[in-house]
Amino acid sequence: MTAKIIPEIVDHLHTVRDYIRFGTSRFNEAQLYFGHGSDNAWDDALALVLHALHLGEQGREQILDARLTPGEGRAILALFIRRIEGRIPVPYLTGEAWFAGLKFKVDERVLIPRSPIAELIEVGFSPWLADEPATILDLCTGGGCIGIGCAYAFPDAQVVLSDISADALVVAGENIEQHNVSSRVKTVESDLFADITERFDLIVSNPPYVDAPDYGAMPPEYHCEPALALESGADGLDFTRRLLREAADHLYDNGVLVVEVGNSAVHLERAFPDVPFTWLEFERGGCGVFVLTRAELLTHAADFA
Ligand SMILES: C[S@@+](CC[C@H](N)C(=O)[O-])C[C@H]1O[C@@H](n2cnc3c(N)ncnc32)[C@H](O)[C@@H]1O
Repeated sequence: MTAKIIPEIVDHLHTVRDYIRFGTSRFNEAQLYFGHGSDNAWDDALALVLHALHLGEQGREQILDARLTPGEGRAILALFIRRIEGRIPVPYLTGEAWFAGLKFKVDERVLIPRSPIAELIEVGFSPWLADEPATILDLCTGGGCIGIGCAYAFPDAQVVLSDISADALVVAGENIEQHNVSSRVKTVESDLFADITERFDLIVSNPPYVDAPDYGAMPPEYHCEPALALESGADGLDFTRRLLREAADHLYDNGVLVVEVGNSAVHLERAFPDVPFTWLEFERGGCGVFVLTRAELLTHAADFA
């Protein structure tokens, strides 16, 4: 589908339902990949239509048979074409994504939020924390979704959002403003812990962890995201190995480390067979998130060295 056919199509589509149906057909025909906020063509088309019409989340059912102006139709079709031709995931087209029930600004400077850690945040990391954390580090924060989610879950906590990418931290800063948490949440640009001097009660991280073969095989939609947010060496563990070596020095005595490594969990188990990683289960899907206490990190310091 190219821009040339827009005038002709606009004459044949009339209602919101028509446009969602048309988008669904074209997205399926183009064999797009769905995995950035929706898992099917209808929901992708719906999100783009609601965005173009400035309708947000409200009134989906009531507006399905509403007729559109030609200008509205052209705006929707232009988004459909960008989705198909650029293989651009919907959140980069709408500029927003949902995580742990919260809306975040996103663009190509940050990964699109989708970590199963959202579920942990929603239950206050129960049962993994003995006490409410007073200090939290969201390491590899991207647009800040995990750390800002934690700031909602723990209203008295001080939260640091850190990332090696200055570009990502600009987006994180915008999300801090959007969520009005600047009195408790700050950003720090740092390569892992290089520029972080404090200790924390909780360090939570969704670092890059995709191994080289997986990265090469990922659908084009993933290649719209920063490579720095995904790739981490041959077995996906370059970052996590460093993190395991250094995390204990940045946790208080009762501190806890929560890290997502996704499919690279198998490599991690193989690399550190004696380490008692606690692997978490999620109701909404996702895997490869482990918990280790500071005590466990210290006990196995020699393994990580
Ligand atoms: C998988 S993304 C996670 C983004 C966000 N936390 C989320 O869950 O959606 C990983 C992030 O790690 C950052 N990163 C990569 N290498 C890093 C390093 N050495 N130190 C700190 N951050 C790093 C990337 O810039 C990217 O924003």
